[in-house]
Amino acid sequence: MKVLFLNGPNLNLLGQREPEIYGSMTLADIEEMVREHADRHSVEVAFQQSNHEGELVTQMQQSASDFDYVILNAAAYTHTSIALKDAIIGSGVRAIEIHLTNVHAREAYRRKSMIAQACIGSINGFGASTYILGLEAAILHNKANH
Ligand code: DQA
Repeated sequence: MKVLFLNGPNLNLLGQREPEIYGSMTLADIEEMVREHADRHSVEVAFQQSNHEGELVTQMQQSASDFDYVILNAAAYTHTSIALKDAIIGSGVRAIEIHLTNVHAREAYRRKSMIAQACIGSINGFGASTYILGLEAAILHNKANH
């Protein structure tokens, strides 16, 4: 099984960006943690990050042919991007929405997800562990649907 972790804007700043909200791990630290977990489950993972909406749309489109699942932290584009929602639906890839923080316990504008409807499900609020839970969700979903 092949899984793409696709990360949106400002997630390249993890570790230094509002650590009281997002924690002290960098995206590279999270990737290392996820890779260890993925290896134990014989899952192949790739990590990508972009600050550009169009780039994320293109990566989403391409992911359908290369990956079984995309685990998507679309960051702020979660709340605004119809283009990203359309890319998930249009590509037909199986997507899981994740967030480090509990977006429902923050500002009202973070409660709305434009992409949620296009995803299998969403996981949020467990910090860096959300990435592991996202991977687990993909593994379990794959088992249940094969
Ligand atoms: C985030 C939550 C978003 O609302 C925010 O814009 C982010 C990060 C999270 O992982 O908690 O950049 O997706």
